[in-house]
Amino acid sequence: MSTIFYSTFITGFEKVIEEALLLRLKKVIVQTVGDGFIVYRTDSSMDDIKRLKFLNNSFVFLKKMEGTSGKTINDLLLEVIKDKAMVRDIHTAFKGKRHTIRIRASVENQFVGVDKALQKKVEQVLIGQGNLTVDRSLADLELWVSMRKEGFTLFGVRFTKRANYEKTLAKGELYPELTYLLCLLSDPKKEDVFLDPFCGSGAIALQRASSFPCKQVLAGDVDASLVNALRKRIERSRNKITVGRWDARKLATFDTASVDAVVTDPPWGNYGTTDIDLDALYHDMLIEFSRVLKPYGTLVVLTAQYELFESKLADVEESLVLIAQYHTLVSGRKAGVFVVKRAP
Ligand SMILES: C[S@@+](CC[C@H](N)C(=O)[O-])C[C@H]1O[C@@H](n2cnc3c(N)ncnc32)[C@H](O)[C@@H]1O
Repeated sequence: MSTIFYSTFITGFEKVIEEALLLRLKKVIVQTVGDGFIVYRTDSSMDDIKRLKFLNNSFVFLKKMEGTSGKTINDLLLEVIKDKAMVRDIHTAFKGKRHTIRIRASVENQFVGVDKALQKKVEQVLIGQGNLTVDRSLADLELWVSMRKEGFTLFGVRFTKRANYEKTLAKGELYPELTYLLCLLSDPKKEDVFLDPFCGSGAIALQRASSFPCKQVLAGDVDASLVNALRKRIERSRNKITVGRWDARKLATFDTASVDAVVTDPPWGNYGTTDIDLDALYHDMLIEFSRVLKPYGTLVVLTAQYELFESKLADVEESLVLIAQYHTLVSGRKAGVFVVKRAP
């Protein structure tokens, strides 16, 4: 049986997400793709969707209501009470099992409070059929009413649970959905020798080793304390990653044309690294990446210094060719993701 879902994802990756969904889910028909969200019909189950590591949140789609910019969240919650078909769809999607549910409302991606009396009325409608009970703190399902900046509102029931990364990530560590997408953009293959030469916490390398088959994953950093911390983390996770301490501008332990993919997040010039001469660093790293990459090898770079990166890439255009570029946000900061191929 096919169901309509919607999922949210990191802004800027619309095309990548659409392609990835078409490849991984059964009989996908994409209905709408917008800034950071996609609505699609599929024969795949909620469990299949839960396994997709590149999505943020996933929902059973209930309704997209146009022209809601003048409305209040209370007006939109009243819609849930009025729209019998919407409530019926919720009960159909989650019939058979007992679930807890709560209501969440957002305006332009920020959660907002809701009128208590109205909240209670909506809850009464939701629990009408018996298998749903309300839990305002730790529900496994959430009815989301999301007013978007584009002037429409999405109604859906969230069935995924995103870990609270803010508490577990190391300083500057990229979150898993982003590291997964960066690895995906490198077109991962099982015979790959994979390198992150500015690995920091090692988040990209750990994602590559745990989510995609490969021959070898190598990660390193100039900072000895980060290298040691990553070695300890790898012992605990049992991922096969070779960790080195090096200067990414001179990867002396690497032979020429020995690496299939470099996926990396070089310094952006914040968090106390302002003493780095980024201009020289970006120039030197590109020369070195072009040396260690095999012909047709792939380079994926995430950086907020996208203008600097573009200008330095232009200096080596004979060996490194830009294939695709994405504009995204990382912790609220504008960043670019560049996919580059090593010329033969
Ligand atoms: C933006 S951070 C990488 C963060 C990483 N992606 C993560 O998720 O934790 C850049 C890293 O480059 C390292 N670095 C700076 N200059 C370097 C150099 N010349 N060679 C190697 N690593 C360097 C810094 O120590 C820092 O850990």
